[in-house]
Amino acid sequence: MTEKDKEKFLITVKSNTKDLFAFTKLVPNRKKRIENASKEPIISDPINDLARKLHPDRQYLTISEIIDQSKSAKTFKLKPDQELGTKELAYFRAGQYLSLKVKVNGVEVTRPYSIASSPSDALKGFYELTIRKEEYGFLTNNIWDNWKVGTKVVSSGPEGFFYFEPLRDLKNIVGIAGGSGITPFRSIAKTIIEGKMDAKLIVLYGSSEEDDIIFYEEFKNLEREHPDKLKVVNILSCEEVSLKGCETGFITTQIIEKYCDVKNSTFFICGPQIMYEFVANELKRFDLPQKRIRREAFGEIKDIVNYPEFPKEVAEKSFKVKVHIGSITKEIPAMATESILVAMERANLAPPSKCRSGECGFCRSLLISGDIYISPVSDWRKAADKKFRYFHPCYSYPISNLEIIVPRHL
Ligand code: FES
Repeated sequence: MTEKDKEKFLITVKSNTKDLFAFTKLVPNRKKRIENASKEPIISDPINDLARKLHPDRQYLTISEIIDQSKSAKTFKLKPDQELGTKELAYFRAGQYLSLKVKVNGVEVTRPYSIASSPSDALKGFYELTIRKEEYGFLTNNIWDNWKVGTKVVSSGPEGFFYFEPLRDLKNIVGIAGGSGITPFRSIAKTIIEGKMDAKLIVLYGSSEEDDIIFYEEFKNLEREHPDKLKVVNILSCEEVSLKGCETGFITTQIIEKYCDVKNSTFFICGPQIMYEFVANELKRFDLPQKRIRREAFGEIKDIVNYPEFPKEVAEKSFKVKVHIGSITKEIPAMATESILVAMERANLAPPSKCRSGECGFCRSLLISGDIYISPVSDWRKAADKKFRYFHPCYSYPISNLEIIVPRHL
């Protein structure tokens, strides 16, 4: 080591040591600042104001336009309801969702819907949600029958982790979408095209019929104008296909390989539960690291009885659940095959929820007594939560009588 190098080394060690001991002055410095601070109360707090703007507890919205997208999907354009106090919309990251709070037959329920518009649209004063009518949908039928221009809607702030993160994800994004799972990719595509996201998007979009495809024309136009940024491949599982340039069948390994640079892409999957299982198997063959596959939470499990280790002998049974929520205690019935969250909503207890997928933690509750079944695919609880019997009612099913404590969020 030369004299010059030694000198450099000493300076580095000295400065690191200084950093190491800097914390010893933290407390005395803080005390000094408190002693010298003004006695006048702080009236404005810009940090908290910004946090509230970005993460409002709720947003009051009004439907300003309804656009038919396909035989079973509509886009609802929502603007802030100034009268009820929402002056501007919270900004978000393309791919996030809003959890809507809706009253159906006097019962308050929540549903998460991905935002289909881009974050810059929120700054212009609107969100778009594209909602597909489900055949036996409890909520979507009600939306179809009742939502008109002028209808007031309450939502959460933007939520979720299904977004492109340049520090983690590769710039080639492959979106694998099924049905209404196309909506977050519209938001991502618009953001890329607006030049706000440095990435390229290829979407493999599975639909069962031609007239189920959402945003067909819009994506075709965007593709034509920005071939270097966006490509959408429609894959139809029906037998007769008249659209040109589509693939038929399902989103298989062969189709993925045909359109994507598999080793240099991050995969984002959003669609119905059944598609996740199929696509997960297809992707397994590429042996990709886990961080290259991002999944949007798919909401409630539809067929819990078929999950591994679900105790089939209780499938037909109903149990009693003693719920302590806020200052209320109520005993409610709950079927083994419905989530505890649904049982509480049915009993009109207005329990807290957002993602309904075990992801956001908003419904986290305490199990005082009894046994529950939690699907292994959605059990993302921390070890401490498991140890101290915390659980998420949105993904938990009663398999005995229960007593639980549920938080009351405003
Ligand atoms: S609603 Fe998100 S974890 Fe239950």
